[in-house]
Amino acid sequence: MRAVAVFPGSREVGLIDLPEPTIERPTDVKLRMLEVGVCGTDREICGFHYGFPPEGQDHLVIGHEALGEVVEVGPGVKGFKPGELAVLTVRRPCDVAECASCKVGRQDFCYTGRFTERGIKNRHGFMTEMVVDDEQYLVPVPRHLRDVGVMVEPLTIAEKALIEVWQIQKRLPWECPHAGHTSASSAKIEAGVCHHALVLGAGPIGLLGAMAFRAAGFSTFVYSLEPSGSEKARLVESFESTYISAKDTPIDRLMERIGTIDVVYEATGASRLSFEVLAQCGPNAAFVFSGVPGLRGPVEINTDLLMRRMVLNNQVLLGTVNAGRDAFEAAIRDLEVFKRRWPSAMRALRTGEFPIEKYREPLLGAAGIKNVITFG
Ligand code: BGC
Repeated sequence: MRAVAVFPGSREVGLIDLPEPTIERPTDVKLRMLEVGVCGTDREICGFHYGFPPEGQDHLVIGHEALGEVVEVGPGVKGFKPGELAVLTVRRPCDVAECASCKVGRQDFCYTGRFTERGIKNRHGFMTEMVVDDEQYLVPVPRHLRDVGVMVEPLTIAEKALIEVWQIQKRLPWECPHAGHTSASSAKIEAGVCHHALVLGAGPIGLLGAMAFRAAGFSTFVYSLEPSGSEKARLVESFESTYISAKDTPIDRLMERIGTIDVVYEATGASRLSFEVLAQCGPNAAFVFSGVPGLRGPVEINTDLLMRRMVLNNQVLLGTVNAGRDAFEAAIRDLEVFKRRWPSAMRALRTGEFPIEKYREPLLGAAGIKNVITFG
């Protein structure tokens, strides 16, 4: 079977031929890949900036945003039958028995750093025709989400952030702090009202994240480089959110445009911008980093100002990576909502389909939002 692999040693990316994997343990499931999304991490791996082959091997099969169809199950599999659709989680537990997180299936919070990630770190990925994995790493996807299932994994990053934000904000009475809401009951965030969420970046992680915040009831703003009136801006407006272009609104004018900033979901990997936005956040705000910046060296920021504002405003700064099963399940539930509520936005997110033999285009060139590899 064909697979897209990166050879970091010889700095090559190519289509290789591999034997089909087989069911080895009773709880293994074999999946035929339907679609695999291409993301920034894949492009970084193909640029040899990131990514690690399995130990002792010279190559890594990439791909971690997968939608597959079950073709065979081991005798001990309880939750899947051939013909059903599933997505695969990415991270696999470390081998240290004392790791409290990995021990309970929360390898997204691994303590040791010895976790592996399919298609990224020390474990082959999904950009290939057939994949075998243990059923505990599969999450079922209803058939009617066949066309959007490939978006589950990139959406899980925001879903995990949202889960964390809910948990953190339990520290306070998180009712609507803004003017115009008279009835206390209608101002409850659970009822989906008026907190302002600012999403930094309009790539797939930012856009899917913005949809998740919007669906959760936030008044949502997306801040990015494309001009107002651009296709991106219209896309953001099509899911009932507000687009703010960095071209006409500098960071220190964001508060004027948005009002109080209650939550920031950062999806740019731009660290300086992020800290500048942090200085604009309101009382009790939660700021979530999800981008992984390249290490370009120190920049100057006003740490006195930031620390002072953070303390005097009870603010929380949070980093989040990868996602657990709860976030995968939330992403599947939300995609159903997005599809029903904003069908044209969902279609617009998907900008290209490339059969596996054309892998070079989305990985090394092709612009767009979410490009996917398909398997004929
Ligand atoms: C993936 C995450 C992963 C992270 C770091 C992201 O592209 O979506 O699952 O944990 O890269 O490797």
